[in-house]
Amino acid sequence: MAKNAVITGWGFYAPSRVVTNFDLAKFVDTTDEWISSRTGIKERRFASDGENTSSMSVRAARMALDRAKLRPQDVQMVIVGTCSPDYLFPATACIVQSEIGATRAGAFDVEAACTSFVTALGVAKGLISAGTVQNVLVIGAETLSRLLNFKDRTTCVLFGDGAGAVVVEASNASVGVESVVLHSEGSKGDLLMVKAGASRVPATKETVEQGQHFITMQGGEVFKLAVKSMADAAEEALREAGLGLDDIAIMIPHQANLRIIDGVAKRLHFPMEKVFVNIQRYGNTSAASIPIAIAEAAHQGRLRRGDKVLLVAFGGGFTWGASVLEWFGAHDGMRPPSVLERARGTFEDVVDRVRPI
Ligand code: UT7
Repeated sequence: MAKNAVITGWGFYAPSRVVTNFDLAKFVDTTDEWISSRTGIKERRFASDGENTSSMSVRAARMALDRAKLRPQDVQMVIVGTCSPDYLFPATACIVQSEIGATRAGAFDVEAACTSFVTALGVAKGLISAGTVQNVLVIGAETLSRLLNFKDRTTCVLFGDGAGAVVVEASNASVGVESVVLHSEGSKGDLLMVKAGASRVPATKETVEQGQHFITMQGGEVFKLAVKSMADAAEEALREAGLGLDDIAIMIPHQANLRIIDGVAKRLHFPMEKVFVNIQRYGNTSAASIPIAIAEAAHQGRLRRGDKVLLVAFGGGFTWGASVLEWFGAHDGMRPPSVLERARGTFEDVVDRVRPI
């Protein structure tokens, strides 16, 4: 029988280095007023020297595994969604797999820019419902500060670094990750890209001098499509799950711009009070934004068992997608199920076996 996929653990890591709009304004031709009013961002985190996408992923992953009470050696698959991997290859997921001691796991990266986490969640759901694996560690992580051109004020003020992770497990429960819808429009890839440094435009002295290894974006064009595409994907994911917007307890959108988030909510006639927003503290962390937001929402008690959650994302590629899921975390959003609770059966419909801690 096909199994459902449920989230049983969550965690995040944000680097300690806080960079405010005022900090940026000291060396970029910008102001706190411009950034705040156009994007909602007040500050972001930048990785310190020595931190990178895999090291932040490991921090988030350990927290998620701990919460799920899943031992690293019992993890069967590690997926990292990222567009700022440690290397072109090996995959960042392989580095994470090794670092956390997931000795029996397969590992690979998913690259769909800011839609990477929703895409990876869809892959995890597919692997679980096909019976290929019993659990997947799904991570979204970025070190975008290393891809920013601080001479380009139209992009460098927007992005930040961080990582979020969830544990997804097979369950006999009737609900879990109920739908995932994914879309792409590759003809618009050049509107948001890193041009050089891979096989099509290999890194040369010239490409480096011209800053072609940095993120470039035509923000206005991205903005126009983001609102409509995210709203359309949300409606499609709801249709697939057989639910309506009234059923949704919380929407967790990709955090690219507060005006985009607001636009999506307005288009859907969905109240902003039920939308989770943390862009003011992290900026746009691309693949990491949704899993960081999930973990923060859980920590804040905004996710209760049985809540229907709507995830929605848009990013480079273009890519966009949405997912509807039912939340299974502990009631206070903090307490992981104990072995005793599992043994008593409180959680047995969620996770089918009792694992040693
Ligand atoms: O996560 C992946 C998807 N990414 C997104 O969804 C981002 C989508 N786009 C956006 O969020 C917005 O388009 C931006 C925040 C990037 C830009 O906002 P905007 O309201 O579209 O501004 P704009 O690009 O039309 O620029 C308006 C003005 C320009 O000056 P002029 O030509 O009107 O004199 C810019 O040069 O603002 C200027 N400007 C800045 N001024 C101060 C652009 N960047 C800055 C800046 N500080 N950092």
